[in-house]
Amino acid sequence: MSSLKTVILAIETSCDETAVSVLRADKDHCSILSNIVSSQVKLHAKWGGVVPNLAAREHVKNFPRVLEMALGEAGVSPADIDLIAVTNGPGLIPALLVGTGLAKTLAYVWSKPLVGIHHIEGHIYANFISNEVSVISNDQLPISKQNADSKIFKNKYPSVIENCKLKIDNSLNKKFPILCLVVSGGHTQLVLMKNHLHYEIIGQTLDDAAGEAFDKVARILNIGYPGGPAVARWAMKFEIENSKFEISFPRPMMNRNNFDFSFSGLKTAVLYETKKHPDLMKDKGYISTVCHEFQQAVVDVLVGKTIKAAEKYQPKTILLAGGVSANKELREQLGKAIEKHNQSNRSYLSYSTPRLDLTGDNAAMIGAAAAVRWQKMPAAKKKETLNGWKTLATEANMELR
Ligand code: KG4
Ligand code: ZN
Repeated sequence: MSSLKTVILAIETSCDETAVSVLRADKDHCSILSNIVSSQVKLHAKWGGVVPNLAAREHVKNFPRVLEMALGEAGVSPADIDLIAVTNGPGLIPALLVGTGLAKTLAYVWSKPLVGIHHIEGHIYANFISNEVSVISNDQLPISKQNADSKIFKNKYPSVIENCKLKIDNSLNKKFPILCLVVSGGHTQLVLMKNHLHYEIIGQTLDDAAGEAFDKVARILNIGYPGGPAVARWAMKFEIENSKFEISFPRPMMNRNNFDFSFSGLKTAVLYETKKHPDLMKDKGYISTVCHEFQQAVVDVLVGKTIKAAEKYQPKTILLAGGVSANKELREQLGKAIEKHNQSNRSYLSYSTPRLDLTGDNAAMIGAAAAVRWQKMPAAKKKETLNGWKTLATEANMELR
């Protein structure tokens, strides 16, 4: 086993993406050799949400092809792999068990160390993956077409943020403390990291996660699934000068003296608004106004609370993570708020966002977290991971720790 470069095989099946990635990591960088994501979005769309048992069945069906592709694209054989990493929580238990079961089997058959990674730790560590590597992404294709149509994109997804001059740092050597805004379909949390792998949750949602609110609003408006990108697309169509509707939604918990969030009332406000105007549900101007106002309310609360937390905890870096970090307005407005904060404070706060192709669920992020865990692990503990195939636990409600 090379101590300088570690080749990692990472597996993620916690929700509706079957994902396998091969990465190479050293002390300073973690780069992707292959990153295959097979999405089940179309399958679950007709149910309006992810059906756990259906997701598990698809993972079982898709995994062999996805694994074969990931190894093939990376050009590695099982003998080259130093470590296997798998998401072992939180998530949908039938879906998680497919990934952990398969990871354990591979670890046993190939005699490899196995580490479990928290899904949110993965989202955070997506920010630590280098930009300048080739990436294979064919996530939108049906599995039967993936081999033929997979492409290698070089430098296709830099973490640039339009209209924002801040430099984005994707090396493993970001400056701590890091304040992470985690926004996904299942989580909305402000997490303070004083060092690698140390997490202190300073605030979180008391009810719905931000992504969940996007999904529910999309369902109310009947504009498609998954809801986040649909709401964002409609919001983009909104134009102030053309809008004849005056709609405003609350900014829940915005001025409370803590770092918790609540999005369930905001979703209800959207429901009440649309119930008042059933006649307008076919009016494109109305739908785009509702989406724009809703999105802005969510962004205001997320940005406002993050900056307030930065004032209190004085981090050196602010990091955005999770599926909702794909939202252009959130990326940009948080960037601008940090710039403004920097102008009025002496300290310089840097900003990190994941590459767009790594915002949603993928296995590369799980591999990146595993790379750091492996690097920091004492030798005795490393030895224990050789028993991972029989000891690794799977937890639906795992805490970030
Ligand atoms: O992290 P993720 O892929 O899965 C979980 O770990 O939950 O996050 C998925 C969530 C969904 O709720 C989806 O609607 C939301 O991220 N999302 C977005 C956007 N893209 C995905 N929300 C707002 N704007 C987007 N562009
Ligand atoms: Zn996720």
